[in-house]
Amino acid sequence: MGRGRRSQLTSALGAVISLLSCCAGSGSRTRRHRNIVVFYGRMASNNVITIDGGAHTGKSTAAQRLAAQLGWDWVSTGAFYRGLACVADAAGIAPDDEAALVGLIGSQEFQVVLTAEATRFESKGRDLTGEIFTPRIGDLTPRISRLPGVRAGLLQAQRDLIRGRRGLVVEGRDCGTVVFPDALLKFWFIVSDEAAGARWAKSHQSTLPEALEHIRERNRRDAGRATAQMKPASDAITVDTSDLDPDAVRKLLIHHCQQAGLVSLFTASQSANAFSTIL
Ligand code: C5P
Repeated sequence: MGRGRRSQLTSALGAVISLLSCCAGSGSRTRRHRNIVVFYGRMASNNVITIDGGAHTGKSTAAQRLAAQLGWDWVSTGAFYRGLACVADAAGIAPDDEAALVGLIGSQEFQVVLTAEATRFESKGRDLTGEIFTPRIGDLTPRISRLPGVRAGLLQAQRDLIRGRRGLVVEGRDCGTVVFPDALLKFWFIVSDEAAGARWAKSHQSTLPEALEHIRERNRRDAGRATAQMKPASDAITVDTSDLDPDAVRKLLIHHCQQAGLVSLFTASQSANAFSTIL
């Protein structure tokens, strides 16, 4: 596929994603939080906090909670890659057929939608979010996410999500290194094998050895690929989530935000959890 065609497709995808996500997510989130979150800073195009790390380090839960507290939107960039793997699988496209995969990105079969609850994936208007989290798609995804054309095709769409939004908490593998290198704050999540395995085994009802095999293989592929490999940004703060529950992780992230001068506690009476940004 030529460069012009690819960039046309990428722009079309960006437009679809922006449109869908504006309608579906940001508005309702803002309304829901308008009484407890007060913003008085400027809106900046880099109002972004990134969370990167391996499988089952607790990134998604942390990103969702932090975003809710800030009144921002949260994005799972993994949903882009999982969604693509899912529709490619259904269409019988081989995981190494880069041209066919890039072609899917600009098609009606591929739509990413932001909501307050999740980064949803739709294909031709059908919500497939439940299907992108199966072990089969989890195994398939690193085999397509290693392809440079796929990553290039999805990059601008991920960056465009900041348009028209107060801010984003974005999680994935390369969010702080490639997607948003100018993010205000970057986290790198780590977890012990045992804790990650236990989380996976619980959510997929499998044994610990199976869980460990799956997680290690996925992390090996994501850290070993040639393009945008999974690694911490040089300015990322490392957070070990092995012994922390989701609320403790949220508090720790807020603490780091405060330390970095990004967030100050909003002490008005509405809520002890309410914050105002002072960016
Ligand atoms: O985060 P999640 O487990 O949903 O990611 C699924 C897969 O998507 C990862 O194993 C990785 O191959 C790919 N991914 C990526 N870059 C990102 C996010 C996810 O390559 N920023």
